[in-house]
Amino acid sequence: MDPDTLLTTTRSVRRKLDLDRQVEPEVLTECLSIAQQAPIAGAFVDGFRWLVIRDQHLKNQLAGMIRAAGERSQAEYGHLAPPRTLASGRYLLDILERIPVYVLPCLSGRPTGGNALLSAFYGSVYPALWSLQLALRSRGLGSSIVGYHLAEHESDAAELLGIPDGVTQVSLLAVGYTTTTTFSPGARPPIQEITYYDHWGKTG
Ligand SMILES: Cc1cc2nc3c(=O)[nH]c(=O)nc-3n(C[C@H](O)[C@H](O)[C@H](O)COP(=O)(O)O)c2cc1C
Repeated sequence: MDPDTLLTTTRSVRRKLDLDRQVEPEVLTECLSIAQQAPIAGAFVDGFRWLVIRDQHLKNQLAGMIRAAGERSQAEYGHLAPPRTLASGRYLLDILERIPVYVLPCLSGRPTGGNALLSAFYGSVYPALWSLQLALRSRGLGSSIVGYHLAEHESDAAELLGIPDGVTQVSLLAVGYTTTTTFSPGARPPIQEITYYDHWGKTG
């Protein structure tokens, strides 16, 4: 797949996850090692960890946390999402236990301070997360961020998974093979409308 196609057709996959196909550990390791090459603020390099969750009992427990928080979040904020996205988000909550693998990127420390620090903290994880999504896609796997449990169950998940105090769970990625390899670019506003030149609001 050429890079532009990969970049424009890597979607949040929810309905098209193959729930019956296991993800081989070596494929995941390969994708994680690619993702590890993403940019990261120097101060955070040593504190980055991936926690891969495959055990069914642990997935069941996590699924309960994600669903409880996700239902509340969707009830409160669902009207802000396009109906199709909301429906597929709702579907994802229904099938959480059957998702083959969860990947939880974690960073040592708690994000505090001003915008520069917060930006560096979270910005040290999302490039790697996106690289992981791209590497997965290029191997026939799909993923979706589903980090609802962070809102109210981060400490419960930490206890379940033995994550030490002071380590922040930044997101959660649901991973599996996909039932199709054909994906299209997503709906986004025209680039001319959201790009300004030299002055806020100046589109040309
Ligand atoms: C920081 C972040 C958090 C997200 N959280 C969720 C989530 O909790 N549940 C979910 O279904 N999708 C989540 N998503 C995925 C978005 O809903 C998704 O990107 C959006 O629907 C657009 O779809 P696309 O990625 O296929 O273009 C999240 C994405 C980002 C970047």
